[in-house]
Amino acid sequence: MSVIANSTRYDRPNFYRKCGGSGLKLPAVSLGLWHNFGGVDTFETGRAMVRRAFDLGITHFDLANNYGPPPGSAEENFGCILKNDLAAYRDELIITSKAGYDMWPGPYGEWGSRKYLLASLDQSLRRMGLDYVDIFYSHRPDLDTPLEETMGALAQAVVSGKALYVGVSNYDADQTARAASILKNLGIPCLIHQPRYSMFDRWIEGGLLDVLKEQKMGGIAFSPLAQGLLSGKYLQGIPEGSRAAKPHGFLRPAEVTEQKISKVRQLEQLARARGQSLAQFALAWVLRHPQMTSVLIGASSIAQIEENIKACDNLQFSADELKAIDAIVPADKAKG
Ligand SMILES: NC(=O)c1ccc[n+]([C@@H]2O[C@H](COP(=O)([O-])OP(=O)(O)OC[C@H]3O[C@@H](n4cnc5c(N)ncnc54)[C@H](OP(=O)(O)O)[C@@H]3O)[C@@H](O)[C@H]2O)c1
Repeated sequence: MSVIANSTRYDRPNFYRKCGGSGLKLPAVSLGLWHNFGGVDTFETGRAMVRRAFDLGITHFDLANNYGPPPGSAEENFGCILKNDLAAYRDELIITSKAGYDMWPGPYGEWGSRKYLLASLDQSLRRMGLDYVDIFYSHRPDLDTPLEETMGALAQAVVSGKALYVGVSNYDADQTARAASILKNLGIPCLIHQPRYSMFDRWIEGGLLDVLKEQKMGGIAFSPLAQGLLSGKYLQGIPEGSRAAKPHGFLRPAEVTEQKISKVRQLEQLARARGQSLAQFALAWVLRHPQMTSVLIGASSIAQIEENIKACDNLQFSADELKAIDAIVPADKAKG
């Protein structure tokens, strides 16, 4: 069964961007299912968001083995949505999964061993009802496992046909360069890196972006709104139902500090002067780097997706605008 998708979904100009040196294009805005799609959430809200996103031309949906809560439930729910609504559109979708964080008990349920990664990929495919994922990631580096083993498992995922492409997430610049080189020697390009990046966390500017360029890899930023802080929704305190208010939300109330909120106020003024909402401004700022193929947004409503995708209407920043942003949220060149 399938819905009939909006016939104008591919009409947004310049929305699809080449992922590094590959032939794959990703939408400038992609939807992540980390929060709001789990067993604790309302299934119909998540389903409506996925369908609306696809109707808007968002072809890329990002998952991981542990998304929920409970872990695995976001993949199960996404599998139901696919089966009921989007089955006819599989070839128009880029669906990703990852393994690296704690997923099942015992020594083979997390980190970067070949044993864990390949078992986890099989489990993700079963939960989503898929034959293959488009991109399979090593979710975090594992200093206790040889990088050759972790990258060998990713290469095996491609060779076995269970993943079309592979990537890494949360790897620093040096780890990324080494991972890309190992994969290259195995004849499999490292397609993409998925780092945290926002105005509040600029670590990738200290080296990772250069590595992505050298390695001809794409990039896709997660938490580009710092989990909602950069939307302005916390300007008057912590609203009911927001991520910071939820017991299972990763944004904790203690992270909503007066120091950050004062910066949000200043940034919002710059956004307004450009005719953008703060969320649109923060997303456009991430996409200003040619290495950033896409931004991964999270959303708890259709309205947020509709607002955020309009970030793409203005991705150009003047030197004065960039300087004004740097004065509020300076680049952190020490890390990365
Ligand atoms: N690789 C990794 O290690 C890793 C880690 C984290 C995330 N990710 C990926 O990145 C995706 C996005 O991360 P994220 O959810 O932290 O992204 P985010 O875009 O920084 O935050 C999303 C949250 O911000 C709020 N929001 C979004 N648009 C808004 C708007 N226009 N107005 C008001 N509030 C708005 C919503 O919070 P409310 O719920 O409060 O409305 C939403 O749930 C995840 O789903 C996942 O796929 C990957």
